Amino acid sequence: MFRSKIAGIGHYVPERVVTNDELAAFMETSDEWIQERTGIQERRYGKKHEETTTTMAAHATRIACERAGIAPEDIDFIIFATLSPDYYFPGCGVLLQRELGITHKEAAALDIRNQCSGFLYGLSVADQFVRTGMYKNVLVVGSEMHSMGLDFSTRGRNVTVIFGDGAGAAVIQPTENPEQGILTTKLHSDGTYAEKLAFINPGSHGGYHAKKAGDDTDFGYPSPDTYGEIFMTQHMMDNGQQYPNMEGQFVFKMAVQKFPEVIKEALDAVGLQTTDIDMLIPHQANLRISQFVQKTLRLSDDKVWNNIQKYGNTTAASVPIALCEAWEAGKIKSGDLVCLAAFGAGFTWGAALVRW
Ligand SMILES: CC(C)(COP(=O)(O)OP(=O)(O)OC[C@H]1O[C@@H](n2cnc3c(N)ncnc32)[C@H](O)[C@@H]1OP(=O)(O)O)[C@@H](O)C(=O)NCCC(=O)NCCS
Repeated sequence: MFRSKIAGIGHYVPERVVTNDELAAFMETSDEWIQERTGIQERRYGKKHEETTTTMAAHATRIACERAGIAPEDIDFIIFATLSPDYYFPGCGVLLQRELGITHKEAAALDIRNQCSGFLYGLSVADQFVRTGMYKNVLVVGSEMHSMGLDFSTRGRNVTVIFGDGAGAAVIQPTENPEQGILTTKLHSDGTYAEKLAFINPGSHGGYHAKKAGDDTDFGYPSPDTYGEIFMTQHMMDNGQQYPNMEGQFVFKMAVQKFPEVIKEALDAVGLQTTDIDMLIPHQANLRISQFVQKTLRLSDDKVWNNIQKYGNTTAASVPIALCEAWEAGKIKSGDLVCLAAFGAGFTWGAALVRW
């Protein structure tokens, strides 16, 4: 049995920088509020109608492939994590395959809908396939075009100021070097609080989950015997239900609990300690969350990589973008123990330990 390694990484962020002050022109917010609560100074937005979740992923993938010493056509399995896909269906996996010209008949593509932990879940799937010898060049990519689906009025400010666009990719290959590779991945989920951070409409639920939870609010869902355009009504649009919603404080509390928990679980699984971590790459949800996790694990500043200040929260792309930047900055060297960790909507969370 092989172990798998991260053979090449790449990232892409759109050129367009959007500052907090620019957002304040659309909604009641301020640079001071955003920086104090989240650490975010600016984020990137893709070029509408020219850049998409898929095209950004293609940029990141080409870089990752070059660094892994393969051509994009050599990829045999694509794992694509995003919550902002180009289409409702089919998923971005096949769109990326087309974009990269991967035409060989063994190729396969899988889409992952795990929001902020999507890259961690993807990495774990890739790890299993490579270890069993099923695939040799697995692409794990996280990409988000949030700017196309946010509420830019004051109503959506708690969510909109946080998110940004970008993509990160990794090529996973087998290695026989026992000193290198993915040591373990730990994944978790708990659907109890699914609606605490969610993008509910359009969807096929017709109010089922709300009713089951005892919420009798009339959301204006069409009557059960209506067929056709049942996914989205004017009433829903008027209430901003076509945008993501979040109970920020609740999410915050869960995140600061689950991050350290899953990191310790991963370390325990391979008999290592927090003091063995050379670089922690936390999902960039909020700088305050990362700082809290850093403090809990007693890691020094040089052992945690944060770039949320520049990019905001790029959801599935945030871990690979941060990993790539830390590596490009020379902060990750051969033999280092790198810990990747993420928590997000679902809730879903996970951690991976990689010997670089
Ligand atoms: C979103 C978050 C920054 C909000 O910070 P908070 O301190 O919890 O703020 P609250 O949501 O309690 O809102 C406090 C006040 O600020 C206001 N507010 C919310 N967003 C604002 C913004 N962008 N600008 C100005 N005021 C804002 C609220 O309306 C509220 O006003 P009120 O007291 O008059 O009702 C914070 O909760 C957070 O980061 N949570 C975790 C989010 C996360 O990580 N999500 C991704 C998970 S992967």
